[in-house]
Amino acid sequence: MRFLTGIKPSGYPHLGNYFGAIEPAIQLQAEGEAFYFIADYHAQTTVQDPRLLEEYVTEVALTWLACGLDPERAVFYRQSSVPEVQELTWYLSTVTPMGLLERCHSYKDAVAKGAPATHALFAYPVLMAADILLYSANAVPVGQDQKQHLEVTRDIAQKFNERYGEVLTVPEARIREDVARVPGLDGQKMSKSYDNTLQLFGNAKQFKKRVMSIKTDSTPIEEPKPTANSALIDLYKLVASEAELAAYVGQFTVGGTGYGDLKKQLLAKLNDSLALMRERYEHFADHPEEVRGILEQGTARARQEAAALMAKVRDAVGTTPWS
Ligand code: ADP
Ligand code: TRP
Repeated sequence: MRFLTGIKPSGYPHLGNYFGAIEPAIQLQAEGEAFYFIADYHAQTTVQDPRLLEEYVTEVALTWLACGLDPERAVFYRQSSVPEVQELTWYLSTVTPMGLLERCHSYKDAVAKGAPATHALFAYPVLMAADILLYSANAVPVGQDQKQHLEVTRDIAQKFNERYGEVLTVPEARIREDVARVPGLDGQKMSKSYDNTLQLFGNAKQFKKRVMSIKTDSTPIEEPKPTANSALIDLYKLVASEAELAAYVGQFTVGGTGYGDLKKQLLAKLNDSLALMRERYEHFADHPEEVRGILEQGTARARQEAAALMAKVRDAVGTTPWS
C-alpha cells in the first residue's frame, strides 16, 4: 500500500493542520510506503511573493520533520523538485473535460475568498491529480475538503487509461472522518483565512497571548459554565487523557474556576504536549544542512519513480523522443 499526501506551504502550520492532517499522515508511516511532499507549485496560486513562498516552504519542511516524518520510512520531497509533474499535468489536461473542473467548489470558494482568478487556480485539480498519479499512489489521506479533488483524480486516471491503456493507478481517498474539527480562537473552524489560529511553532509569548484570548462567555467565576461547544474543552481534548479531560470538564460543571484559570491550564497542557515537537523543530531549524540532505535523498527517490512512470506515459501517448 502506497500512501501519498501533500501540504501546501501557504502559511504557518497551525494546530488544525497538525491534528487534522499531519498527525494522521505520520501514523500511516507504520502501515505502508509513504510519499509526503511540500506542494509549493500549488501554493503559488495564493502566495506570489517569492521570499514568502520560500519562508513557508522552509516552515512546512521543518514542520513535517518536527512532527515525526521519518525519512527512513517516508519519501520526503518538494513538489517543484520533480518537474516531471508538470509534464504529466499536460497529458492529463488533454483528457480532462472542462465541465469536470467547472464543477469543482474549490475554485469558486478560493476566488470568493480573494484568491486571483487565474488559470492555475482553475487547473489546480489537474496538477493535484498529477501529484498522485506520478507516484502510482494507492491511498491519499486528505481532509473532507479535498474529497472532490480525489474524485476528479480518479476520473482523470480512468479517462487516461480508457484512451491509452492501463498505465495509471486509480487511487482511493482516505478521508479522515474521525479527526476532530479543531476550533479556532473564535470558536469557528481553525483556519488561516479566519486569523484565528494557534501556530504550532510560533513564538511562546504570542502563543500564550493567543490562548488567553480564546473567546468565552461571561459566566461569573463561581457559577457552572457551559460545556457544549466550548473551544477550551475541544482543544484540551486533543492533548489530554480521559482522566485529565474529566477533571478539566469537572471544573466547568461545578463552578468556582474562572475562564482565565481554565485557559492557563489549557496553555500548560498544550505546551506540555507540543514540547517534544518544538524541540525537534529547533533542532532542524538550527541544522538546515540536515533538512536539505533529507530532502535531497527523498527527491532522488521520487525522481526515480517519476522517471519510470513518465517513460510509460510517453510511450502510451506517443511522445517518446527519438534517440
Ligand atoms: P487553512 O484552513 O488554515 O487554510 P488548509 O486548508 O491549508 O488550512 O489545511 C490543510 C489541511 O489541514 C486540510 O486539508 C485539513 O485536513 C486540515 N485542517 C485545516 N484546518 C483544520 C481544522 N481546523 N481542523 C481539522 N483539520 C484541519
Ligand atoms: N490540495 C491539497 C490541499 O490544499 C494539497 C495537495 C496538493 C495534495 N497535492 C496533493 C494533497 C496531492 C494530497 C495529494 O490541502
